[in-house]
Amino acid sequence: MLKTGISKILITGASSGIGEAVAYAFSDFKCQLFLVARRQEQLNRVAESCLKKGAPQVICQKHDLSIPGQGTVIVQECLKTLEGLDILICNAGYGIYGPTINISPDQMSRIWQVNYQSGYESIHAALPYFLSRREGHIVLVSSVIGKQAIPFSATYCATKFAQVGLGNAMWGELKKHGVGVSVICPGATATEFQEASHKVENQKSTSWGRAQNPMVVARAIVRAVQQKKRETHLTVGGKILCLLERLVPSLTIQAITWILNRRQTTTKTDTNDN
Ligand SMILES: NC(=O)c1ccc[n+]([C@@H]2O[C@H](COP(=O)([O-])OP(=O)(O)OC[C@H]3O[C@@H](n4cnc5c(N)ncnc54)[C@H](OP(=O)(O)O)[C@@H]3O)[C@@H](O)[C@H]2O)c1
Repeated sequence: MLKTGISKILITGASSGIGEAVAYAFSDFKCQLFLVARRQEQLNRVAESCLKKGAPQVICQKHDLSIPGQGTVIVQECLKTLEGLDILICNAGYGIYGPTINISPDQMSRIWQVNYQSGYESIHAALPYFLSRREGHIVLVSSVIGKQAIPFSATYCATKFAQVGLGNAMWGELKKHGVGVSVICPGATATEFQEASHKVENQKSTSWGRAQNPMVVARAIVRAVQQKKRETHLTVGGKILCLLERLVPSLTIQAITWILNRRQTTTKTDTNDN
C-alpha cells in the first residue's frame, strides 16, 4: 500500500506530537501529505520540515474537528487537491481527566466528536474511493486506554474503546475488498497531550512510567500500514497492562483503581499543605 513517491496521505492532528512525527515518517517515503489541525502556524512549521525531508507536496488545512461534518470536508478537500488518497490517519485527539460527575454531557459530546466521530466521518467519506480502487488503508490512533479502562478518564476511555471496536470490525469487513485497517494503541508518549488535555480542578493526569518518543509510534504506524497489521500495542507498560486485562481483568481494574485513588488522595493532601 505504501508506495514511495506515489502515496497520498491525510493526517489529522498533524500540528504536534504523534501526528507531526507521522508526517515526518511518511516524508521519508516521499509521500504527498495533507495535514489537518487548528493551529495554522504549527502546521506550516511541520510542512516546511516535511518538504526538507523529501515530501514532494504538503497541503496544510486549518480545521476544527469538534465541528460536526469537518471530518467529511477534509477528505473531500484532500481528494480534490491531491487528486487522490491512499492512507487516512485519524489521529487528532485530546483527553479529559476528572470524576465523571464533573464532566458535562456537552464536554462528552465534544471529545466524542474530535476523538471518534470526526474520524468516522472521514472514513465514511473515504470508503467509496478506497472500495472503487480496491485499495487504501485506514489508521486509527487509539490508546492502551482503549483496551484497559482507567478511572477518572471515563469520557476519554469511551472514545478510545470505540476506535478499537470500529477498527477491528472494519478490518474484518474490508480485508477482502483490498482495504486495510490498523488500530494503534500507544502507551504514554512524550507530546503536548498532557498540557492540551482538560483537567477538572486538582485532578492529576494519569502517567504510567516513562513516556516514549512520538517517532517510535510513527515508525510503528508505517510498519502497520506496510504489513497490514490489525492492532499494534506500544510501550512495555501498555503491553503488560493489556496482557493482565486479558488474564485477570477484575484484579487489574481493582489494582489500577487503588493506585489512582491513592494518587488523588496524595494530590489533595499536597494541595491542602500549600
Ligand atoms: N501522548 C500520549 O501519551 C498518547 C497515548 C496514547 C494515545 N494517544 C493518542 O494520540 C493522538 C495524538 O495525540 P498526541 O499525543 O500527539 O497529542 P498532541 O501533541 O496534543 O496532539 C494532538 C493533535 O490533535 C489536534 N487536535 C486536537 N483537537 C483538535 C480539534 N478540535 N480539531 C483539529 N485537531 C485537533 C492537535 O492540533 P491543534 O491543537 O493544532 O488543533 C494536535 O495536532 C490522540 O488521539 C491521543 O489520544 C496519545
